[in-house]
Amino acid sequence: MAELRKIVTVPDPVLRRKAHKVSDFGPDLQHLIDDMVETMREAPGVGLAAPQVDVSLRVIVVEFGDEDDEEVPKKLYAVVNPEIARTSGETVMGTEGCLSIPGFVGEVERLKSVTIKGQNRRGQPVRIKADGWLARIFQHEIDHLDGVLFTDRATQVTKVEGEVEQAILMD
Ligand code: CO
Repeated sequence: MAELRKIVTVPDPVLRRKAHKVSDFGPDLQHLIDDMVETMREAPGVGLAAPQVDVSLRVIVVEFGDEDDEEVPKKLYAVVNPEIARTSGETVMGTEGCLSIPGFVGEVERLKSVTIKGQNRRGQPVRIKADGWLARIFQHEIDHLDGVLFTDRATQVTKVEGEVEQAILMD
């Protein structure tokens, strides 16, 4: 049974630590991933990195689909030890938020498309091609594993009042 975990916020030091590589794909990791998915959905967010639930391991979950585009159905990813393997070089600006930095959004330049290399929850190698918002979400989440927050990269950070559109609430 998955359980909700508490999302840590700045300035919690776990958010600034470089997370450890995962080598044990046993029950603890399986519980962590299930809990992260539950916590991401409940928030709600489109991604979550393990340091955000106070676990310094290289694990991310992402769930995203384009509501206006049936070609991009909602899909759930859990990636262990993710890395950006290949990129187009082309960049785009976009608005990001973060569950660990409530009340702020920022304009961040990201690679337009990326290939993510890592392992699935069973330890098997995976490769994911992503572009647009999905690529942005992966880059935001992988940054968390290196202790990097969107506010470090943003050209402009704005305080927001009230509800923020879910599309920009990354994680
Ligand atoms: Co975040």
